[in-house]
Amino acid sequence: MSTFNIAVLPGDYIGPEIIAEAVRVLEAVGRRFGHTFNFNEALAGGAAYDVHGEHLPQSTLAVCEAADAILKGPFGGPRNEINHPKWQGVEQNAILPLRKHFDLYLNLRPVAVPDALLGLSPVKEEHVRGTDMLICRELSSGIYFGPRGDRQVEGPKERMEREVFDTEVYREHEIERLARDGFRLAEARRKKLTLIAKSNVMSSGLFWREVVDKIKPDFPDVALDYMHVDAASMEMILNPRQFDVIITSNMFGDILSDEAAALLRSLGMGPSASLNESGFGLYEPIHGSAPDIAGQGKANPIATILSAAMMLRLSFELPEAALAVEQAVDKVLAEGLRTADLASAGEAVATTEEVGRRVAELVGQG
Ligand code: IPM
Ligand code: MG
Repeated sequence: MSTFNIAVLPGDYIGPEIIAEAVRVLEAVGRRFGHTFNFNEALAGGAAYDVHGEHLPQSTLAVCEAADAILKGPFGGPRNEINHPKWQGVEQNAILPLRKHFDLYLNLRPVAVPDALLGLSPVKEEHVRGTDMLICRELSSGIYFGPRGDRQVEGPKERMEREVFDTEVYREHEIERLARDGFRLAEARRKKLTLIAKSNVMSSGLFWREVVDKIKPDFPDVALDYMHVDAASMEMILNPRQFDVIITSNMFGDILSDEAAALLRSLGMGPSASLNESGFGLYEPIHGSAPDIAGQGKANPIATILSAAMMLRLSFELPEAALAVEQAVDKVLAEGLRTADLASAGEAVATTEEVGRRVAELVGQG
């Protein structure tokens, strides 16, 4: 019997719909296992801009600081409205500072293909069956946070022109802490760690290899593999089963995790946990706010529900409750209750709420 305080940031467009289903499932967990979850909602992203004129108000950070964990929906607006003040820079103003504020450097993105979805994967069943990887994406540094600029420089024919740049910067301790976590996680799994970088071109990529090679002797049971990111993105499709734990930089992890989620057919299936050195965590789906389908009950809530399961396991140390949620999700998929992103042509389409209610019901039944 415990009480947990969860900061809930529903975010934009489909955010409130999918967060509501994760909350419903957590409430079912509370009833079944006798825990109390207090949900403290706060505004962030475009939703906060409407009320506070900024994307990440201090009051929202205060709610997050007071919580045991953060459950976050997607922030952001339509791609063609990036110059609208409500949406301009929302990711840079809200998501990045939130990650930085809590030093959430370890982003865990598991991708395991459930049997019920084997036939739906764009990759042939025989290649995708048994896929079970854990992408550890560095989340607090790299090109997302390095020096950036927008300046006038002299171009061809002595005409001035704009030059815009972002910079990949990594410090040794930033690579080392992520790599140690990757080795530890691999030790507890199939004992294989793949570092993905671009060491043939980037000095930071070479640095990742040096740092990882240096700590490798501390983990004699783990087989370390290295892949350039271009080759890795091909291997992800040709032979996804070969991956166990992956460690990679912020940007490569962003790209590769969307690619890996495609093995499940939909980004709507990708959960994530972001942790700092004291184990404090933020949990969010890896997908965006999907303005085109918002408010229609079409969004897949599973990525958010599975993110909540990660919260149960990693922040609250409730492995049994986490497993109950994961098994309920598998069952719902096996039953064929699927939102449009997963439904095949001619198949009945379930709503966001139907999926959430059924998962909660199964969790309640035990
Ligand atoms: C993700 C998203 C974010 C990222 C965006 C929305 C800033 O794509 O969590 O993968 O790039 O980290
Ligand atoms: Mg992404």
